[in-house]
Amino acid sequence: MEKLLVEGGKPLRGKVRISGAKNSAVALLPAAILADSPVIIEGLPAISDVDILSELLEEIGGKVHKDGQTIHIDPSAMISMPLPNGRVKKLRASYYFMGAMLGRFKKAVIGLPGGCHLGPRPIDQHIKGFEALGAKVTNEQGAVYLRAEALKGARIYLDVVSVGATINIMLAAVRAKGKTIIENAAKEPEIIDVATLLTSMGAKIKGAGTDVIRIEGVDRLHGCQHTIIPDRIEAGTYTIIAAAMGEEVMIDNVIPQHLESLIAKLREAGVDIEDQDDQLIVRKIAPMKSVDIKTLVYPGFPTDLQQPITALLTQAHGTGVVTDTIYQARLKHIDELRRMNAQIKVEGGSAIISGPVKLEGAKVKASDLRAGAALIVAGLMAQGITEITGLDHIDRGYECIVEKLTNLGAVIWREKMTPEEIEQFQNS
Ligand code: EPU
Repeated sequence: MEKLLVEGGKPLRGKVRISGAKNSAVALLPAAILADSPVIIEGLPAISDVDILSELLEEIGGKVHKDGQTIHIDPSAMISMPLPNGRVKKLRASYYFMGAMLGRFKKAVIGLPGGCHLGPRPIDQHIKGFEALGAKVTNEQGAVYLRAEALKGARIYLDVVSVGATINIMLAAVRAKGKTIIENAAKEPEIIDVATLLTSMGAKIKGAGTDVIRIEGVDRLHGCQHTIIPDRIEAGTYTIIAAAMGEEVMIDNVIPQHLESLIAKLREAGVDIEDQDDQLIVRKIAPMKSVDIKTLVYPGFPTDLQQPITALLTQAHGTGVVTDTIYQARLKHIDELRRMNAQIKVEGGSAIISGPVKLEGAKVKASDLRAGAALIVAGLMAQGITEITGLDHIDRGYECIVEKLTNLGAVIWREKMTPEEIEQFQNS
């Protein structure tokens, strides 16, 4: 087990290239199950969530071959193998095996998904969609059993705008008989990316990226080639890092429209951001002023950037209020930031941040992926050395983060944890 060490206070300069989107990749890989010939996906991020999903595809009989950023998935010999335990519990996105296997085999047994603990993360809307399509869904000993004689298109209104439910229902509906209409669908760019792959496979989908998606089911889907969109959350994280410590940082391979809400908020705080075709140039301009932020579904401010920007706001003048309306309990980074001298109060689910303060390096723990990103932002700004444990969360979603930050001039490295440190970490 490793920990991350950051020596703060170093100005950052240069260019960082953004990888393919994690939250697309984790849906695109299971989507390949629906095809009857090889699917080639390019721009794959090198993160552990992708490794686990590749192994799950192999577990059900897929032939998977990775070559750098390209993955070849031959789904022709796949079978509806039950996946009640093991790897499926390691990540949230394993729930996409439900929609994809239901679509192809009309049956699946999948363990309840794991992933970051951000408070309650129900999957009732996924189940509601599968049932509307004609599946019988039961929950037995921590696994979801899905079976259908046949899937039949339906009109499905989502009670909650959900990225996962929208994608999962799309995955099943592309192989249902007749027309499915998903109303109150999520509009995140990752949904358009999955719809683009499915369309290249022969699916008939209209309206992805709006709140009404119309799908006409087809009998078969074939292989294709697809390139993943850039990761807007990784890009947003580096934009925040550049706002914190960047003399001049170019964020390369980004779709600026995907980050409009973040760019607007950072500009409001006084950060200098130039947007070009697929690049952002970010310069820190002191002093930064506080802003209030409320997370919302896309195109609102993303919940996944709430934790990193909270760390940044410790350096802004005034008081900023950050409210996460998507995951009200996504606040585990706050106690760790306080250990570094941040002045943050939590009131009624909002973080109230007073700044600027001098952050000081400390021993902190990443409780989830974006909490880890927040602690890296704080560590880069702090005086002295910050030691971050819980690195496996960060590795789930950020490709080569140490190398990318080192290239920008950060002093950051991994170290093996001693047996005592591991024991302390496990008991904390
Ligand atoms: N919700 C329900 N019922 C459902 C599904 C969702 O009540 O059946 C609620 C959730 O509890 C939450 C809200 O609806 O309050 C939105 O959840 P959503 O389903 O959109 O989240 P998700 O699909 O499980 C994805 C990303 C998350 C990201 C959210 C919101 C993946 C694998 N995960 O999760 O990413 O925070 O959308 O944008 O795509 C991350 O990358 O760090 C991460 C957690």
